[in-house]
Amino acid sequence: MIEWSPATISAFQTTLLAWFDREGRDLPWRHDHEPYHIWVSEIMLQQTQVQTVIPYYERFMAWFPTVTALAQAPESQLLKAWEGLGYYSRVRNMQRCARQLLADYEGQWPKTATELTELIGIGPYTAGAIASIAFNEPVPAVDGNAFRVFSRLLEIDADIAKPQTRSLFEKVIARIIPKDRPGDFNQAIMDLGSSYMTARNPDSAHSPVKDFNQAYLDGKELDYPVKTKKPRPVPVDYVAVLAQADGQWLMTQRPSNGMLANLWTVPLLKVADLDLAEDYLPADLELAIQTYFQQEYQLRVTGFDLGLKPVKHTFTHQKWTIQLFGAKVEQPDLAYFPGKLVSTAQLTTLPMPKVQEKIWDRYQPK
Ligand code: ADE
Repeated sequence: MIEWSPATISAFQTTLLAWFDREGRDLPWRHDHEPYHIWVSEIMLQQTQVQTVIPYYERFMAWFPTVTALAQAPESQLLKAWEGLGYYSRVRNMQRCARQLLADYEGQWPKTATELTELIGIGPYTAGAIASIAFNEPVPAVDGNAFRVFSRLLEIDADIAKPQTRSLFEKVIARIIPKDRPGDFNQAIMDLGSSYMTARNPDSAHSPVKDFNQAYLDGKELDYPVKTKKPRPVPVDYVAVLAQADGQWLMTQRPSNGMLANLWTVPLLKVADLDLAEDYLPADLELAIQTYFQQEYQLRVTGFDLGLKPVKHTFTHQKWTIQLFGAKVEQPDLAYFPGKLVSTAQLTTLPMPKVQEKIWDRYQPK
């Protein structure tokens, strides 16, 4: 790791902010400094690209313009607002946080990063982003962008997969962040990280800060950031049963805890939970599905393989491979089934996870 002199720090700040003033992106959450706006955008941006987030953000603000509106939102609309973004615990925690603000803070946002981390769902990165952008507190906001940008600028060799590494970066950035424009500085780093200093295709030759980029100057850019590998997601086989009765779809709501809590899908059966021999044949699955429905739900179904390519979907810890079955439900009595029959027209009113959208798309490509 190299260290910058005060003169270099000052030159870097000037160069970066001049570039941000010229070419910083015009994004809807940059039109004002409302902490509510900054917070919502930062939570959305945690796992999703800027271009994808923009329409979600606009709709979210139309539906829930204030902390109070968010606190009062019905869960179904909340989940609908998030449909397709994934990691639904994020939006549930946002509502809990909105309620916490109203109950314990008289609806007023605390103004420092330290106090902001007391709020539900707000970690050190989000707290730093809100405190610097909304309240001008000179604190870093260390996310993947900041790890990548600063590890390259200064050739920081610490492993960013290790939790202790964050505080090293926070200390380094705290020396560099300008006291007068911390929010613009942090956002300029984000913009740099998604333009000239991307993970795989950086374009440092044209970057406004190329002269400060030690890894680039040494021809070692792609060696940074240093990150040890996480374990791979575990493969899990599923069957999706697209079951119809009287022209309606059999839909099930997932339990209120665990993966995809409370969201609606067609019945998804883990193949390992079916009554199958180890060396089962494809034809055995149909009978196994029938047996499962009979035993678990007291429903008579006749399933048939739809002959479609399996749907694949990767979560943080699991990689699902889902084979699609059609089915007819005879004499539906749903007393033992955790769900309901839904007409095709009504399907869009249910909050559904991304993996369910993929299943519909495979069944009926748009
Ligand atoms: N990525 C994370 N936060 C961001 C922001 N405020 N603007 C652009 N990209 C971001």
